[in-house]
Amino acid sequence: MDTFVKPTGSHPISYALGYTDAEQERLIRQAEIIAPITERLFRDAGIVPGQRVLDLGSGMGDVAMLVARLVGPAGEVVGIERDANSIARAQARVAAAGLLNVNFLNTDVNNIVSDQPFDAVVGRFILMFLADPVSVLRSAVGMVRPGGVVAFQEPSWAPMLSLGAGLPLWSRTRRLIHEILLRSGANREMGFALYRAFQEAGLPAPKMHLEMPLGNDGDFIRLTSDVLCSLQPLAEKHKVSLKELRNLDTLPDRIYAEATAANTVVSLIAVVGAWSRKPNNT
Ligand SMILES: C[S@@+](CC[C@H](N)C(=O)[O-])C[C@H]1O[C@@H](n2cnc3c(N)ncnc32)[C@H](O)[C@@H]1O
Repeated sequence: MDTFVKPTGSHPISYALGYTDAEQERLIRQAEIIAPITERLFRDAGIVPGQRVLDLGSGMGDVAMLVARLVGPAGEVVGIERDANSIARAQARVAAAGLLNVNFLNTDVNNIVSDQPFDAVVGRFILMFLADPVSVLRSAVGMVRPGGVVAFQEPSWAPMLSLGAGLPLWSRTRRLIHEILLRSGANREMGFALYRAFQEAGLPAPKMHLEMPLGNDGDFIRLTSDVLCSLQPLAEKHKVSLKELRNLDTLPDRIYAEATAANTVVSLIAVVGAWSRKPNNT
């Protein structure tokens, strides 16, 4: 493979959501809901058949598979993921989907180099977890050919936190998730930060959009309340008490009852997309 791991320069950091089976299942369910938003971003950004694309922080492989379908058999995707079990699962899903144009590299996104340029670099919900997202973006941009595409999707919690005031249990749940992420060092507003991060990484100011999926069925509500289960070890570590929510097993049902009684919808986090092209003169 012509994309490989730098022998030095590792930046180990912890990953807030962890790698339990339940969290992996949640990522896959979340990916299904967000897929149309991600596909719109990549089409707007200029991901087209035949391209060679780098995907940072592949997780269960959903972004890599979406891109693989957009670039077609003449294109290729290299996914970077530092958790070996996630890669094994992503590889199995790629094989089950019959996709032959996706490879994963088991390493940290801080540690990659490539001697063959990419036509595009993409990522979803990865920069928010990095200690130095601009440096990773800059090094990824360095692997993209002049004129190539850079497209990322990251969250903004602010709109979600400002909605649903009439749903007290739901509001408490979101506030506690936000508090744990805050204390863990994850950037909950990485979405809006993309505007500056792109420019600091040497790119023109990106075009951007923000979308918020809404819903009120049990599965939709569970996508958010299950985040809390994945964050439980961090809640203990950072001394965020979840007692006020009582039994987490029944939490989604109680939020569902609350939203149904109010005959309203709740939101997922807002998904901010940003895209730009590497200047031709670099
Ligand atoms: C929230 S998941 C997103 C997965 C996928 N992009 C998606 O949207 O479904 C973030 C993934 O990034 C990976 N990750 C976090 N920090 C990383 C790093 N420094 N290097 C490589 N992968 C990393 C985690 O292991 C996790 O699988």
